[in-house]
Amino acid sequence: MRYDCILFDLDGTLTPSEEGIIRSAGYALEQMGKSVPPYEEMKKFIGPPLKYSFMTFGGMSEDEAEQATAKYRERFSEVGWAENSVYPGIPAMLKALKRAGIQLGIATGKPQVFTEKIIDRFGLRPYFDTVCGIQLTDHSADKKELIKAATPEGCTRVCMVGDRKFDIEAARALGLDAIGVLYGYGSREELENAGATAIVETPDELAQLLLGGEIPAEQGLFLSFEGSDGCGKSTQMKILAGWLKTCGWRVKTTREPGGGPISEAIRALVLDPQHKGMTDVCEAYLFAASRAQHVRDTIRPALDRGEIVLCDRFLDSSIAFQGAGRGLGIDTVMEINRRAVDGTMPDATFLFEIDPHTAMQRRLSASAPDRIEQEQQDFVARVYNAFEELARRDPERVKRIDANGTIDEVHSAVAKTALDLISAL
Ligand code: TYD
Repeated sequence: MRYDCILFDLDGTLTPSEEGIIRSAGYALEQMGKSVPPYEEMKKFIGPPLKYSFMTFGGMSEDEAEQATAKYRERFSEVGWAENSVYPGIPAMLKALKRAGIQLGIATGKPQVFTEKIIDRFGLRPYFDTVCGIQLTDHSADKKELIKAATPEGCTRVCMVGDRKFDIEAARALGLDAIGVLYGYGSREELENAGATAIVETPDELAQLLLGGEIPAEQGLFLSFEGSDGCGKSTQMKILAGWLKTCGWRVKTTREPGGGPISEAIRALVLDPQHKGMTDVCEAYLFAASRAQHVRDTIRPALDRGEIVLCDRFLDSSIAFQGAGRGLGIDTVMEINRRAVDGTMPDATFLFEIDPHTAMQRRLSASAPDRIEQEQQDFVARVYNAFEELARRDPERVKRIDANGTIDEVHSAVAKTALDLISAL
């Protein structure tokens, strides 16, 4: 059955938010003078309305439960909301559903403010037409009302996806289909008793069920990282990879020259400081040879698996270093590389721009500069200018990143640009 609207619960369905919830609930119990059960037992706090949990599991009166809820929110609003991630594969599924024209919404018993902060932080906002949480002053949520509010006008085939009986029962009471997910915090028995129309075990199974073979699965995405030596792109690429995984994306990191056994052997050869006599043309062919192998061994298979490929340098480096630095010219370098890349080009490129003097300082402090890092200032300047020219010519693809700030500052800029790009492409 093809739905025209799919609504999702948040905690335990899109995000394994247990850490923030359990720590904040523990804090509230402690503040109310109650004993805090072991971590595993605290899992029952995930999903039901907080007031219900404090009364049922914490043995509190209604009044006390309201105070505890306030304590919970004190910690949750500061740090708890961010102690979270997105289940792997979820954003790729949302993107594919959205592309297929299905309206998506969130119906969660979590306060609206935190729900919005969470989906913004993990880059999920662009996939949702509606986002419905509760007001901070509400102490218990009526899931049926949330589901009604989250359903865009005109939708007739609506399905709710959730991990607890609260989600399933409410949807069924409204006559809607309800898919129960077992990777969250409910059990099969709980979901079956609540009347789930289908039950899935993993986020991948959920994607299969919802995409149903009718909707093309998400395509991979190819992002390259470029800049002069010493610009900090490799460090930033690693941090970004970790962050994208937290956001639920499947990521493959790789580098050029290299990225596979044969390409790494070519890397060792081309960068060896002893090979002083290597001609510029030989050098350009070696980089292209490494690329030809890398594209086929590593990049395309990962893209075919729907992964986000983060590649430390690609063709633009050959244009800048061999084309401009060595003076072979863009046309020659493109000619040499045509068959190597064979149409596989980055969907977007991050260009890390750093003041050339700072880059030089960083390079000089590197322990063992490779053959190309040993080049002189005029070579470095030509490379720098070539990258700038590439960014001017192709502003759509090449995203400039100011790399002069601290690691955290640069990461924030990179992460924001990356998530915007991923949802747009
Ligand atoms: P890189 O791995 O970025 O250096 P590092 O080891 O410091 O992380 O790149 C290795 C060197 O190879 C670098 O100086 C740039 C150069 N290079 C080219 O000249 N042409 C190319 O096509 C590529 C991919 C790299």
